[in-house]
Amino acid sequence: MSAIEQEIAKRRTFGIISHPDAGKTTLTEKLLLFGGAIQTAGAVKSNKIKKGATSDFMEIERQRGISVATSVMTFNYNGQKINILDTPGHKDFAEDTYRTLTAVDSVILVIDCVKGVEEQTERLMEVCRMRKTPVIIFINKMDREGQNPFDLLDELEQKLNIHVRPLTWPINIGSNFKGVYHLLDKSLNLFSANKTKIEKDVVSVDINSTDLEARVGDRDAVQLREDVELIDGVYEPFDREEYLKGDIAPVFFGSAVNNFGVQELLDTFTKIAPATQARHTDTREVQPTEKKFTGFVFKIHANLDPKHRDRIAFLRICSGVFERNTFYNHVRLGKKVRFSNPYNFMAQDKEVIEEGFPGDVVGLYDTGNFKIGDTLTEGEVMNYQGIPSFSPEIFKELINLDPMKAKQLEKGIEQLTDEGVAQLFVQPQLGNRKIVGTVGDLQYEVIQYRLEHEYGAKCRFDGMPITKACWITAEDPKKLQEFVRLKGQQIAQDKDGNYVFLAESDWILRMNQTNNPDVTFHFTSEFKLF
Ligand code: G4P
Repeated sequence: MSAIEQEIAKRRTFGIISHPDAGKTTLTEKLLLFGGAIQTAGAVKSNKIKKGATSDFMEIERQRGISVATSVMTFNYNGQKINILDTPGHKDFAEDTYRTLTAVDSVILVIDCVKGVEEQTERLMEVCRMRKTPVIIFINKMDREGQNPFDLLDELEQKLNIHVRPLTWPINIGSNFKGVYHLLDKSLNLFSANKTKIEKDVVSVDINSTDLEARVGDRDAVQLREDVELIDGVYEPFDREEYLKGDIAPVFFGSAVNNFGVQELLDTFTKIAPATQARHTDTREVQPTEKKFTGFVFKIHANLDPKHRDRIAFLRICSGVFERNTFYNHVRLGKKVRFSNPYNFMAQDKEVIEEGFPGDVVGLYDTGNFKIGDTLTEGEVMNYQGIPSFSPEIFKELINLDPMKAKQLEKGIEQLTDEGVAQLFVQPQLGNRKIVGTVGDLQYEVIQYRLEHEYGAKCRFDGMPITKACWITAEDPKKLQEFVRLKGQQIAQDKDGNYVFLAESDWILRMNQTNNPDVTFHFTSEFKLF
């Protein structure tokens, strides 16, 4: 293996996703603790937006500021270099999370055993399924009175539309939780509540011997034997290939806050999770082992502090070696760019790097050159694919309050939407009416504030009775033009000039779909791929 192949084989780049409060931050911290990247619990700041702060977006931005520091956390474990890409849990920033998922090679999904599959989990899994991302599931909070584990597995399969395969199995739950049985290693890990230290009480047991009774008591021993028999009968043996294809998700049970079940998760993760994967561009598939550097920007973080008005673009390296102070081709702009201070992240610190390898994420200071999805290469003209925009859920018309500042407003909204803060739609037939679509109300406050403070433009947002925007295409261009003409005010264009249908309700959308079989309605901008 060449040196670069060794570096690639070492990398495990993944994201942890969950519905808010399921335990993502806690698990992330415990993985860093087990990985030796931090020494004490409590060192990782939650980037969770605290309840009650929803009307105060500056507070949210302050917390998002923290989240930049924890955007990528890197540590070495078992000879591997592990990159955890953090994802915001708050629904209003869901698009950020979706995009981060384009930069990972696998995912750990955290589920709260009391609440089961929650709304945000379903949406995030949809994105993983779309991309065939391998997923490991961690069922957390087993120290709480949660649901029956078999019921939980059924719920996971039904709601997330994925096959699951437990690799550990809980012995009792809630106040009687005694630990987990590792179904592959045939070992028992006994539970003791422990929030600060890493201690393990793992023993190999033959579950058919009386040893089991001695350790967990008669009743739980009988139950475990029954459960294991049932699992062996119902679930196929675990097959890593199926996991790598995204067809089956191995499941672990534990309690992150008590450091319990985390080691099993991490050890199995390092054994089965994929190393840096190949990625698609609009012209071809790129292998990580290719000599020439390529990468794409999946996230841009703006700093709201007027003293530090810089932006940070997060670049995922896809092939070759990224080097500091080297000129690369910014494909969209067709210009050469180089970076004197690219940095990478180690736990809470960041350090300037000389080089980075496929799978790594590099932070680049940006003065407005980047847009989400931008590709860098050594010269080849191609664009990484699969960084879609999702159909927004809230729509408001942008009203200019200062006619003297129309230019500033125009520039501001263009740039902010390049950052992926929101999506901009225009209706040329209505005097270039501008509609801003988001997944959360908070974004409007952020945009209004930034337009005023960064661009000197004053605006207002007026609500619109639209619930969905779908990109529309048709095989016959005439049919599309006909539909666009007929629908008039219900049609807008996105920033790339693609037509979008604005629906007032799901019912109206369905009716239009039924009545216009020649027109295809797309819920993500990904259709441009096909
Ligand atoms: P999130 O990032 O997914 O939003 O969740 P986070 O880790 O912040 O955890 C949410 C809450 O759940 C926290 O409590 C955390 O301590 C708790 N938690 C995490 N893992 C477990 C577990 O295994 N068992 C139990 N019982 N609780 C767990 P909090 O009260 O919101 O915050 P804190 O004051 O404890 O930090």
